[in-house]
Formats: sequence, C-alpha cells, structure tokens
Amino acid sequence: KEELKNVKKRFFWGGATAANQFEGAYLEGGKGLSIADVERGARHGVRRQIDENIQEGVLYPSHNASDFYHHYKEDIALMAQMGFKCYRMSIAWTRIFPNGDDEKPCEEGLQFYDDVFDELHKYGIEPVVTLHHYEMPLALVKKYDSWRNRKLVDFAVKYAKVVFERYKNKVKYWLTFNEINALFINPRPWHQAGIIYRYDENEADVKLQVAHHQLLASALTVIEGHKINPDFQIGCMLIYPLTYAYTCKPSDQVLTREKMLKTYYFGDVHVRGKYTNTCRSYAQMINGHFTMEKGDEDILKEGTVDFLAFSYYFSQVESDEPLMEVVGNIAKGGRNPYLEITAWDWQIDPIGLRISLNNLYDRYQKPLFIVENGMGAIDKFENGTVHDDYRIDYLQKHLTEMKKAVDIDKVDLMGYTMWGCIDLVSAGTGEMRKRYGFVYVDRDDEGKGTLKRYPKDSFYWYKHVIETNGESL
Ligand code: BG6
Repeated sequence: KEELKNVKKRFFWGGATAANQFEGAYLEGGKGLSIADVERGARHGVRRQIDENIQEGVLYPSHNASDFYHHYKEDIALMAQMGFKCYRMSIAWTRIFPNGDDEKPCEEGLQFYDDVFDELHKYGIEPVVTLHHYEMPLALVKKYDSWRNRKLVDFAVKYAKVVFERYKNKVKYWLTFNEINALFINPRPWHQAGIIYRYDENEADVKLQVAHHQLLASALTVIEGHKINPDFQIGCMLIYPLTYAYTCKPSDQVLTREKMLKTYYFGDVHVRGKYTNTCRSYAQMINGHFTMEKGDEDILKEGTVDFLAFSYYFSQVESDEPLMEVVGNIAKGGRNPYLEITAWDWQIDPIGLRISLNNLYDRYQKPLFIVENGMGAIDKFENGTVHDDYRIDYLQKHLTEMKKAVDIDKVDLMGYTMWGCIDLVSAGTGEMRKRYGFVYVDRDDEGKGTLKRYPKDSFYWYKHVIETNGESL
C-alpha cells in the first residue's frame, strides 16, 4: 500500500482514439477527404495501398470505421461507466477545413466537436485533444506537395487558432502532432506527413525540411494557444521505441544510442526549444540539409511544450551483428529472446515502460503523459462478450511497472490512456480484427456487422483499477 500513494489524486485514467480510425462518416457534416480516406486495408506484413483517388468498389477502413460520429453519446456513456477521468481523441482537420486552405471553417464540423466535448463534460471527463493524428486534408498533399511546402505551417496554425478559440473553455489539454518522430522512423511517412518519397528527391533533405516545418507549426501552435488561453497545457507526442543493446559489446551500445537519435531529435526541439547537438549529429549522420528562415529559431525557443506525451507498445534490440527482425507498425528492430510477442510480432515488455518513463524524465524533467499503450489481439466474441484475460494480463503488468516509475523512481506522470479503448481500425494494417478495446465493436474487415458495442471482461477490470486509483493492481 505504501507504494501507491504517489499516484496523483487527479491522475488522468482514460482511453485514447484517433478520428480517422474511429469516427467514420468520412463525408458527412461537410468533411473533406483526408490522407487516411484513400488508404486501403491490409494484413500483418503487407503494406497498405494508397490510392490517388477513391476507387469504386474498394472498402476503405476509415470511411465507416467504428462510426463514433453516430455513436458518440453511447461511447462516452461507456467511458463514463468505466470511470474515465479523461478521453484522448483527435480532431479531424478535414471536418474543420475540408481542403486545408479554405477561407472559412466548416460550422458543422466545429459543432460536432462542441457536442462531443459537452457530452464528455456532462460526465466530468476531461478531453485531451490531438490536433494532428495521422491525417490531414488530401487536397494539401495534391495542391501544395504536403509538408515539403512551408505554406503548410500557416494552414496548420490557422486550423489550430480556430479550434483553440472555439473550444477555449471546453478543452484545456492539447497535443500537437501524434508520434511526430515517426517521420524519421517510418520509411514511408504517409500517416505522419502525407509524404511518399520520390526517386528524384533527396530523402534526407526532405525529411529534415518536413520535420522543421512540423516543429515550427508545433511551436507556433503552442505560442498561439497560450495567447488564447494561458491555462492551456499543450504537449508534444512521441512514439517511444525503446531499444536495448543486444550484447554488452560497447559497439552495440553506440548503435543503440544512434537509433534513439531519431526520437530525441524531436523531443529536444520541443522541450529545449532548439536544435541540440543530438539533432545536429543526426542530420550529419544522414547527410541531410534543410532551410531555416530568419526568426525560426526564436519561434522554436518561445514555443516549448508544457508536457511530453508518448506512446509505448514494445521494445527492440540493436546490434552490429545480424539479428532476427521484428516489425512493429512503424519501428523495426531486433528480436529479444527474453520477451514474448503478440500475434502481430510486437514484443511485450512491461518493464520497458518503466525504463522509458525514466529515460524520458531523466532527460527532460517535464511532466509525462502515457497517451497510448495496449495490446492488439484477435478477440473471440461469444455470448455477447469477450473473455480477454490476455489483455488484462498485458495491461496489469504494464500498469504495475508504470506505478513503480511513479512511486519508486518519482517520475512526474499526468496520466495513462489505453489505446483504442473502444475497438477501432488499426493504423498499421487497416484491420478491424486487430482489436485493442475494453469494448467490442461488432464490425469486421469486410465492413459487415451491426456496430453494436459490447463490454469485454477487461472493461470491468479497468473500471476497478480506476475506482481504486490503481491500488487494485
Ligand atoms: C500508434 C498510433 O502508432 O499505434 C495509433 O498513434 C495506432 O494511431 C497505434 O493505432 C497502434 O498501432 P496499430 O497499427 O496496431 O493500429
């Protein structure tokens, strides 16, 4: 019992989703097409196909997803039943500015999120809102060449200002870009930036330029947000691909550090407000160059984040000798013989969560927020429920390690939101069968199903964890 007392009274227990994986209604309420709307579903190990335009007869997973758009009242009631203190969700940029460069925002889209936030507040659930979660207007990719173009910074900041003004009294916690560092990790960062590298361009230069534009947009978003409401808490969001040296060979350790540069590049600029030695050494390592304009450095300096949010799913190992590889949705790495893996080959490493919390807190000394963690699995739906003891086991072990980081290591942690709290479409594969939720959604990969919601065993387990503020773990 002694150990538990450091978990804050106002600890944000909750769940997380993203608009393009959850809302559906892809053309309703004036919404424009997003980059997710032209991405087909696939399978583990098979790359998702991206079409230039929507093809007839093809089922695109984002189009209907779990249909939160029409089920939000019921879904929020289920979250309230579990006792959620917060709900991490994202706003679809295309509901607010269907093409990204529109003169005026779309009132119907703004109203939809007003309704969602009101519904959350009815139950005392705090919204935590991501502005860019793996989607952007497709029109911005086609017309402006996406984030290669500096104009994107203005469009993104305009979007941020509109939603900040509109929801300044309804939302206090914001995140700018979801897993922004995945831009360097993903060989084809369509989700992160609407980018597929072309043969005739220098990939390293594009990478660094796109990163600079997003980092500028993020800093300006923080600056503008604080002007609109000084109480806003605005964070960045990183995927944390924890990596261990495979052996105690010093050269493995060096490689491991180098692998993490892709992540710290973004953490450093967001938290320290400048390109640090880490960033410069990464740029040199990939032999890339980018352009900064006068005043950019001041923007980065002024727009540092209030907290650092991250996702944690698995760890991997690194060595200068050949290793058996495992592929997560984005991060690739070596197989660790001490860990079990999920059906999608993600290595299950609860202690790694504690290590990640320590690494990030030691490095940045900023409040942290675990905004994604969870286990994608094939659930067996029987007699109106799912007996998901494997999910409970995964979460129980991770939360126990999280608590050690807080209680023993004294990490300042704001909260924990389990990924895909209600079943949704997988970002990596577009599958529905890769389920994360406490709540089962009756829909399959062929788009069939009633969309009815059913609590799984983990639903009641998590409710009890929240009720006891983690003491029941
Ligand atoms: C994170 C993303 O990378 O992982 C989510 O922020 C995603 O959007 C989650 O859904 C789980 O990955 P996947 O591929 O199983 O959906």
